[in-house]
Amino acid sequence: MATDWNLSPAPESTSHANIAKQYELFINGEFQKPISGKYFDTINPADETLLSSIAEAGDDDVDKAMKAAKAAHKSWSKISGKERGKYIYRIARMIQEKSREFAVIESLDGGKPIGESRDIDVPLAAAHFFYYAGWADKLDYAFPMRKPKSLGVAAQIIPWNFPLLMAAWKIAPALACGNTVVLKPAETTPLTALKLAEVIQEAGLPKGVVNIITGDGRTGAAMTAHPIPNKLAFTGSTPVGKSIYKAALEGNKKVTLELGGKAANIIFDDAPIEAAVEGIINGIYFNQGHVCCAGSRLFVQESVYEEVLAKLKKRIGNLIVGDPMDKNTDIGAINSKEQLHTINRYIEIGREEGAEIYQPECDLPTKGNWCRPTLFTNVAQSNRIAQEEIFGPVLAIQTFRTIDEVIDKANNTSYGLSAGVWTDKGSKIFQLTKALKAGVVWANTYNKFDPTSPFGGYKESGFGREGGMHGLEAYLKFTV
Ligand code: NAI
Ligand code: MG
Repeated sequence: MATDWNLSPAPESTSHANIAKQYELFINGEFQKPISGKYFDTINPADETLLSSIAEAGDDDVDKAMKAAKAAHKSWSKISGKERGKYIYRIARMIQEKSREFAVIESLDGGKPIGESRDIDVPLAAAHFFYYAGWADKLDYAFPMRKPKSLGVAAQIIPWNFPLLMAAWKIAPALACGNTVVLKPAETTPLTALKLAEVIQEAGLPKGVVNIITGDGRTGAAMTAHPIPNKLAFTGSTPVGKSIYKAALEGNKKVTLELGGKAANIIFDDAPIEAAVEGIINGIYFNQGHVCCAGSRLFVQESVYEEVLAKLKKRIGNLIVGDPMDKNTDIGAINSKEQLHTINRYIEIGREEGAEIYQPECDLPTKGNWCRPTLFTNVAQSNRIAQEEIFGPVLAIQTFRTIDEVIDKANNTSYGLSAGVWTDKGSKIFQLTKALKAGVVWANTYNKFDPTSPFGGYKESGFGREGGMHGLEAYLKFTV
């Protein structure tokens, strides 16, 4: 994927990664053993080797982290925005300096290709800290008539598909606005958040301003049910998002939810076809399709259908599936056995529904979690593979004749996160960006991210925006 954020050369080997055998909970500026006494394993999904043993935060640990964050908020919210900005800037610089190590660990723990961790996840995470460092002393300018104030403690729960990047999306704006944080990474990918905890410690951030605790959904649920946090921020599945919404309602907490998606990528017959095919490939196979805004539904205008399909089949035949640590890999390991099971189940459902499957031949490693790039044709709008989030490298292709027909079909889903439009006509782009019920619409490109741009969805994709100036509002209250 094209990116402007490439800051460091390729990591050549895993020797750049300094992974401890065991990680504790980062609470009040220190790594502390869990009161629960429990640990869980994080493994490398590409070869099933054990990477590290990770502390599991129980209720008492969650309570301790929340209290540390609450105590730290007293002084953190009072220091000047300029001072806060300096700390955030320092974190950004340190991520840059350690970008090789972050990239290697991200790919080992989560299975994504090293080229993606190196060129996208890590530099973009640093970019988010740089960007929000700049806002910390400008909040009064951003909201001149409204007197912005910090909320207090933010409980933040993130998923496994972009572990470091999601930590940056959550932590950077929260700190810029004067909040303190308790963040929990996902149980299959805790390592880069824990590395970030080391960075935060080294950066000298006041104790308790950022607390990073590990565990599974039980730890997450304890965080959202805890009385201290004033704000819940979540990225993950729609059912868990709904339970967090309920917890926010009961606890009278502010909440933002970034949930699933089933994005439509739309190719008109006047589109630049080669570029569109690349965009479709990137849209669905980037990060094994573990992407909330993945372009998992493709709509092709009938007159160019055969041409597009032939090109897509040829192109997916050339994708390299395998070792995430190889810089030539296009599709790495599926993040977990559970997710692989979900994807395989959807592939079965697609067949049962009568859709036609195409998967190129390729040699897959014997160990680890793997899925070949998959596309389905002969898909009906009502098919589950056209309606439900698969979160894997599986594309459902449909055709259309008219612009009105494709708008109807594209909007006929419970999600509304993103969409892509491929056409030579600016007028069609404007018409579609208005008509499509999606928080983000890309035109003649896909999966472009930038800290200055807000990101978020409609309908079951959640609400609230992250990124840009909009991302600040999620972490502020206004006294006027
Ligand atoms: P999940 O929503 O269960 O996990 C996301 C995070 O929430 C993890 O940190 C997890 O520990 C935490 N969590 C789980 N249950 C919780 C609870 N009751 N209270 C608070 N926190 C809780 O998602 P999962 O099971 O990993 O993936 C299932 C499906 O969700 C995927 O197949 C995909 O469709 C979707 N998903 C969407 C993501 C997105 O970026 N929008 C990211 C991850 C998953
Ligand atoms: Mg792992």
